[in-house]
Amino acid sequence: MNKIQKIGKGKRDYFSPKGRQVEEASLIRIKAILGDLEIRRDHLIEGLHKVQDHYGSISAQDLAALAEIFRLSQAEVNEVASFYHHFQIVRENEQVPSKSKLRICDGVSCEMAGSNELFDLFCREFSSQEVDVQKVPCIGRCASAPAARFDKVPIDEVTEKKVKEIFFTKSSYRLRLPQYEKFDDYVSRGGYAVFKKIKNKQIDEKNIIKMLSDSGLRGLGGAGFPAGRKWEIVKSFSGPRLMTVNGDEGEPGTFKDRYWLESKPHQMLEGALIAANIVGCEKIYIYMRDEYPEVIEILKREIYKLEIENLLDRPIILRRGAGAYICGEESAMIESIEGKRGLPRHRPPYIAEIGLFNRPTLNHNIETLNWMPQIIDNGVNWFKNKGWDENHSGLRSYSVSGRVKNPGLKLAPAGIPLRNLIDDYCGGMQAGHELKAFFPGGASAVSYQQTWSIFLWILAYLKSMEDL
Ligand SMILES: Cc1cc2nc3c(=O)[nH]c(=O)nc-3n(C[C@H](O)[C@H](O)[C@H](O)COP(=O)(O)O)c2cc1C
Ligand code: FES
Repeated sequence: MNKIQKIGKGKRDYFSPKGRQVEEASLIRIKAILGDLEIRRDHLIEGLHKVQDHYGSISAQDLAALAEIFRLSQAEVNEVASFYHHFQIVRENEQVPSKSKLRICDGVSCEMAGSNELFDLFCREFSSQEVDVQKVPCIGRCASAPAARFDKVPIDEVTEKKVKEIFFTKSSYRLRLPQYEKFDDYVSRGGYAVFKKIKNKQIDEKNIIKMLSDSGLRGLGGAGFPAGRKWEIVKSFSGPRLMTVNGDEGEPGTFKDRYWLESKPHQMLEGALIAANIVGCEKIYIYMRDEYPEVIEILKREIYKLEIENLLDRPIILRRGAGAYICGEESAMIESIEGKRGLPRHRPPYIAEIGLFNRPTLNHNIETLNWMPQIIDNGVNWFKNKGWDENHSGLRSYSVSGRVKNPGLKLAPAGIPLRNLIDDYCGGMQAGHELKAFFPGGASAVSYQQTWSIFLWILAYLKSMEDL
């Protein structure tokens, strides 16, 4: 029975199907947008992306159609879509925003460089135009603050003139890729030699794990877990295993992963193939933040190139995030790859035992993988000796922004004192400025000044107790 009855406000019509009804026309429209996307639960987020990319927002009717197509409840699709910042849901009776987006970063470095004032200016300038002006969290271009993105075009050191140029030339949807090291250039400087040796059993895999452990390489995604030890743990759980590569880089102020992927993407790709071979992971999932469309395009091209060159010995699957900071946490990222809300899982079990699709999962940050081929190729001491002192191994990619003379990505010894990093690598502080406070590891770390404030506050408190 599908009879629609008009009944009083607040009462449900028990003779008609539950929930929002999906119109046939909406189903046809959304199916056309999804194109050849395979309809599987873990593709839901990509489905939402496709609709968002097409219209610049997702209507309640579109969500209902997606639920029908993916055979999920409307509540579930709604929950997933509303979790992610990048999906702009438009309810009935709400105004549909423009497809074109001017996203202005309001991270710390950009705010210091005047992004709030620019936001107010652009809201006024574009109020009658077809542009949706938004404030967004750090977009990973902090060294050229204030930064913004007009649809696909990144704008460094934003000015009114630059924005208007893009707007009036209608070039905002044109994706321009940076110059990066292509496959042939990487191979000509010895790239993929280590991977080939591993495939041909010319290097013993136990030796490689030992090398990684001896080199002191620790995870560079934040937790600093020893890489070699992680491989042993994941390998100890019976397969089939999977691998994830964390390219979410949502920590405000960080742009190191973007730097490596926009300059030398094959170092990470070779590292991932090596790790997956040694640990025995049958597929590799790369989770990239949607704020980096250039990186996503570079990876698509270069993964395809690996396939043509017969180097892709297992699938590498690219997934895009959707603007949720928490999805950088590995178990939340796994939920997101599975097409769900990015809520961190309770532990134990750790993802090494039960991770993506309930399989033992090896997860690494982009930069961790980036170093692996070089360590295996050049040896343990090559890496160890690059640290600042005997307690630190290797180089680090420091994302420096703020009031230094030359901000940017600085490749410097691990453990370098802050003063040396600023003076020797960044040309010192800008004229008229002195270092008073800094965030050592993104905005979720304590700031230097804050630590001192808490320390002084405790001292003051103890002193006052003494005085009583
Ligand atoms: C809130 C939160 C956000 C995180 N964001 C990232 C991130 O953006 N990229 C990343 O690689 N790791 C991030 N991590 C760390 C990951 O959970 C994980 O430790 C890391 O990806 C492991 O790779 P590694 O061993 O190579 O460092 C985050 C952790 C937390 C708790
Ligand atoms: S791009 Fe604005 S703070 Fe990072």
